Amino acid sequence: MHILVTGGAGYIGTHTCIALIEAGHSVVVLDNFSNSHPEALKRVEQICQRPVPFYEGDAGDADTLKYIFSQHHIDGVIHFAGSKAVGESVEKPMLYYRNNVTASQTLIETMNDAGVHTLVFSSSATVYGDPQSVPIFEDFPLGPTNPYGRSKLMVEQIIQDFCQASGAFSGIILRYFNPVGAHDSGKIGEDPNGIPNNLMPFIAQVAVGKRETLSVFGSDYPTADGTGVRDYIHVCDLADGHVKALETLHGQPGSHIFNLGTGNGISVLEMVNAYASASEQPVPYQLVARRPGDVACCYANSDHAKKVLGWEAKHDLHSMVSSSWHWQSGNPDGYQSGK
Ligand code: NAD
Ligand code: UFG
Repeated sequence: MHILVTGGAGYIGTHTCIALIEAGHSVVVLDNFSNSHPEALKRVEQICQRPVPFYEGDAGDADTLKYIFSQHHIDGVIHFAGSKAVGESVEKPMLYYRNNVTASQTLIETMNDAGVHTLVFSSSATVYGDPQSVPIFEDFPLGPTNPYGRSKLMVEQIIQDFCQASGAFSGIILRYFNPVGAHDSGKIGEDPNGIPNNLMPFIAQVAVGKRETLSVFGSDYPTADGTGVRDYIHVCDLADGHVKALETLHGQPGSHIFNLGTGNGISVLEMVNAYASASEQPVPYQLVARRPGDVACCYANSDHAKKVLGWEAKHDLHSMVSSSWHWQSGNPDGYQSGK
């Protein structure tokens, strides 16, 4: 298949481009580099040993999309492009509704006009809000607690409504749990701008000596060690989930929703210890107050993806932390390293 990957220069996008190419598909990338670096795509080209056609532009710009659809025969779109920082979404909600919701609507309409009827959408476990119990199944109540999460849920609803009305459109909604780790090559990985919001890139920067101490947000949760528990999933497993979803559901009209997680809950302290052990570096931390809006425990039931897509996560925690360390230690300043 020929796949347009919006946000293909980003963290999950780069890994998914590689998985698609290795599975025999071809990709065209559209990215505006608002949260990524052109060097990331050069690294993808090095790893795959082939050029990756690329457009710099906005995934919500109908003219850019029309042009791409006129230049390439596209079978489906994976839509990673969007803004993803929860705190920023509280401060700038309109940015999130425009870049995530409005852009997705434009993309879907332009795809449909061009006769492209398969979309894979990056959703998030955040749509569940504070879950009533764990593991989380796809039919659990939805209740995101911030504008970022609501923007994801709105796009899910747009996709479902459009699939129902169209009768020809296949909308595949993937709810990611917590993507971490990096490609085996150590050439690509997560490269956040500024101070990382998320646990794994923060730990990685402490281990490599860029930051002094990790703040552990909350040690009084009702979990085994009192720290927050999440379902960390290797980004290469996640990338593989996209390939399986496209291969299984291309040409199957309707909306399809899947959790992509491992089903294992890992606490913050377990993650810190695993990282320190794999990197053989100290990871100093201090226990501080809870971060507002965080839930105690969140992990997936991904049986639906296993049953329908034949997909399940293969990488364990050691593989997640050691691949992260391979990337971080070789590229202490991310894609700017060595420049
Ligand atoms: P990322 O920021 O690394 O990648 C997103 C890419 O999209 C970046 O390259 C950015 O430059 C680009 N982009 C943003 N807005 C754009 C626009 N309007 N037009 C063109 N390009 C644009 O993020 P990621 O971690 O790879 O996440 C990819 C998707 O997965 C996002 O939609 C995110 O909300 C979703 N998601 C991520 C996580 C996570 O923890 N990383 C969890 C759940 C869901
Ligand atoms: N944490 C710390 N210190 C930090 C950062 C995080 O203790 O510096 C803790 C958090 O309190 C939480 C756990 O580490 O218990 C994981 O936090 P992350 O920020 O890495 O991940 P979240 O589960 O909070 O949220 C992430 C993304 C969301 C996405 C969600 C599910 O930020 O956008 O995963 O995919 F929706």
